[in-house]
Amino acid sequence: MYLITVFGNLLIILAVSSDSHLHTPMYFFLSNLSFVDICFTSTTIPKMLWNIQTQNKVITYEGCITQVYFFTLFVGLDDFLLMVMAYDRFVAICHPLHYKVIMSAQLCGLLVLVSWVINVLHSFLQTLMVLSLSFSREVIIPHYFCELKQLVQLACSDTFLNDMVMYFATVLLGGAPLAGILYSYSRIVSTICEISSAQGKYKAFSTCASHLSVVSLFYCMCLGVYLSSAATQSSHSSATALVMYTVVTPMLNPFIYSLRNKDIKTALK
Ligand SMILES: *[C@@H]1O[C@H](CO)[C@@H](O)[C@H](O)[C@H]1NC(C)=O
Repeated sequence: MYLITVFGNLLIILAVSSDSHLHTPMYFFLSNLSFVDICFTSTTIPKMLWNIQTQNKVITYEGCITQVYFFTLFVGLDDFLLMVMAYDRFVAICHPLHYKVIMSAQLCGLLVLVSWVINVLHSFLQTLMVLSLSFSREVIIPHYFCELKQLVQLACSDTFLNDMVMYFATVLLGGAPLAGILYSYSRIVSTICEISSAQGKYKAFSTCASHLSVVSLFYCMCLGVYLSSAATQSSHSSATALVMYTVVTPMLNPFIYSLRNKDIKTALK
């Protein structure tokens, strides 16, 4: 599954960069998402496979902190890029005549850059907060990778500040993209409803169907991870939910985009 994820997402990046028909904001963002997905799976899966292969489940403190940093970074980036893509669809459907002017190369670059800067700073902050905690010499992390929340719970020192920062970061950095996506889609739906011809409706909707599928998958998996960790105390089932989230979502994204999308199919051919 890891190989399929890397290969599928690489194909998307390759298709978008080599076919000039795909040099539009939507596909630039898509290839950014593919790049982030490759990095995202690469922070957890190779280490997990190595652990399984060698029957050795040890990770060093430095390795653990590094994993926390990159995992937080790429999850946040995934979320932000999905919001940027929703904004792109919103402009394309609600302001089609101004699309080329609004979604200029500068704005696209700026949106991607801002997403990176916010998430680099955020995961840097979270990692610094973890570094300030003290741990006993050996701790057992009931997971297959170092996850921020689990790690903080295992600290010996007071974690009040960490919990506060984590809480506000989740509300702000998780809530803002979700709000943006919901707003964009509410405007898209009301615009599509105003189109009189059924064919026009279908055409407008089909351009955002792939994105909508990816967004639904991302948030359903997030919700699944959240619910399963809240509902059961067993770390086994919440780990299962997390595997689904970290392996299956990035693997399915290229399929969703390439199977439903004529442009990508032609480019791949
Ligand atoms: C990401 O998006 C920017 C802005 O549209 C684009 O210039 C860049 O090539 C994209 N990166 C990748 C890896 O596709």
